[in-house]
Amino acid sequence: MDCNKSLLVANWKMHKTIEATKDFVRTMLNFPPADNVVICPAFTLQAYVKELPFSLGGQDCSEFSTTEGAFTGEVSAMMLEDAGCKYVIIGHSERRKYHQETASIIRKKIANAHQAGLIAVACIGEDLNQREAGNYLQFLAAELEAILPDSANMDNTIIAYEPIWAIGTGRAASLEQIEEVHQFLTDKFKIIYGGSVTQDNAGAILSTKNVAGLLIGGASLDANKFNQIIKIRGQLCN
Ligand code: PGA
Repeated sequence: MDCNKSLLVANWKMHKTIEATKDFVRTMLNFPPADNVVICPAFTLQAYVKELPFSLGGQDCSEFSTTEGAFTGEVSAMMLEDAGCKYVIIGHSERRKYHQETASIIRKKIANAHQAGLIAVACIGEDLNQREAGNYLQFLAAELEAILPDSANMDNTIIAYEPIWAIGTGRAASLEQIEEVHQFLTDKFKIIYGGSVTQDNAGAILSTKNVAGLLIGGASLDANKFNQIIKIRGQLCN
């Protein structure tokens, strides 16, 4: 692992009130600051998370316009950038499932993120059927190809490999499974892993070949647990 470049991205999903966020920030400020840490809270919480010495990210951006327009309920990539975001998660499997996001929608969102100067954290991952059928590598290659716009490059795009069967299930992929997929996908982009990452498995996953970082859901909601993961990453550098 290249410790200075290893990225920790917290995906808070639809969690936390302002009060709970202030608590998180208060606790986190007791710990040493760290580079290459991104927190992606709900839009309502971004201003509070900004007080932390980390980067800020959105969990989604609009496909319809990079800037603004009559699109009720949408938030554009430019608005995220304006609010202080450097990153945006795009194409998470929960968005694909609950919002019927297709590859072409995701591709437009990633292109909009690039146009606004954001780094896209583009998510891909196979479901359990695809894993068990054995054709997951071909599936992942095709999924990646389908979502990446021409603007995607090493500097503005990070790929998050999140096997759907590992998200929120407590069943992280094995190190062998992670290594196989990361090795397969790693020629043009940095690949981070997500799916049931905890303070107990973060060190081993970060030490796995071609793992450029972690996308962390549940374990990023608790300041102590999240700081443990930051600490573990730091220890791997020494
Ligand atoms: P989890 O979520 O760490 O709670 O499994 C990861 C994600 O969905 O990004």
